[in-house]
Amino acid sequence: MALKTRFTELLGIEHPIMMGGMMWVGRAPLAAAVSNAGGLGVITALTQPNPEALRLEIERVRSLTSKPFGVNITLLPVVEAPPYAEFCRVIIESGVTIVETAGHKPQEYVDLLKKHGIKVVHKCTSVRHALSAERMGVDAISIDGFECAGHPGEDDVPGLVLIPAAADKVKIPMIASGGFGDGRGLVAALALGADGINMGTRFCATREAEIHDNIKQVYLQNDERGTHIIFRKLHNTARVAKTGVSDKVVEILNDPASTFADVASLVRGAKGREALENGDVEAGLVWAGQIQGLIHDIPSCAELIGRIMSEAEQIITSKLPSLVA
Ligand SMILES: Cc1cc2nc3c(=O)[nH]c(=O)nc-3n(C[C@H](O)[C@H](O)[C@H](O)COP(=O)(O)O)c2cc1C
Repeated sequence: MALKTRFTELLGIEHPIMMGGMMWVGRAPLAAAVSNAGGLGVITALTQPNPEALRLEIERVRSLTSKPFGVNITLLPVVEAPPYAEFCRVIIESGVTIVETAGHKPQEYVDLLKKHGIKVVHKCTSVRHALSAERMGVDAISIDGFECAGHPGEDDVPGLVLIPAAADKVKIPMIASGGFGDGRGLVAALALGADGINMGTRFCATREAEIHDNIKQVYLQNDERGTHIIFRKLHNTARVAKTGVSDKVVEILNDPASTFADVASLVRGAKGREALENGDVEAGLVWAGQIQGLIHDIPSCAELIGRIMSEAEQIITSKLPSLVA
């Protein structure tokens, strides 16, 4: 069964399932596998050391799929920002047609990408940010509930309320993100007013994700309680897998006198990369969402997406109609 929604129509994809940008995980083989399975695969620009390496990675996706795919640009609030304009130039020159933006102050880049006819899906975590992105001229919204891996924002509103609250106000196509991993979630997202789903953690636990098997085992073994919320007092809240390192970060930051400097050596991005690539779970932070509680295997992306779609079909065509008296 195919589900036709405003999101699939906008982007020319078969299934309303997107892979979110993922630092150190969003590489060509995984993105291509998602796209080949009918979803929207996404490579993550900042995973590449420089814009020229991104150009090669885009070519690599093209060598693996002829289906639509996207590039994520995460705009970080840092003093020494990556060369975003250069990354955008490579995206434009390479003929990429879809970009996922996330993070701070996207207007300049949204304008640039839109000028070149690129479809922009902006990921955010609140209704007010979704509306502001809509005013900026993005084509679609991906809205992350509190359940999500990565940065859920500072409002702590779970998807069950956030998605319909956003659907009531956002006019452009909108997908639901955070806590999705099966057909039940997809149908629920559609019922709540979304046009599809975005998944991060679930795609990390697939065969094509180029991360160490030890990390995939963390996603399998952790249940829905297996995450920590960290950095709340730094106003940069993040959801990560519960591990020895994240336990330590929580413990240190629980001390009212502590500052970022006290955890800086534990939370460095390079250490997270080491954990993902070498499988040393205690090397650094591993981003993960509450959906871990519903991850019980490591399928291929084709198996996963096929399963989500057939489960959704069964619910829509059989289970729900049978309830109507
Ligand atoms: C390992 C990992 C790395 C991530 N890195 C990024 C990133 O660099 N930029 C971004 O916009 N989102 C990032 N995310 C968030 C995802 O794109 C997505 O919004 C989120 O995972 C959705 O929640 P879920 O994990 O419950 O599916 C990351 C998520 C994971 C699991």
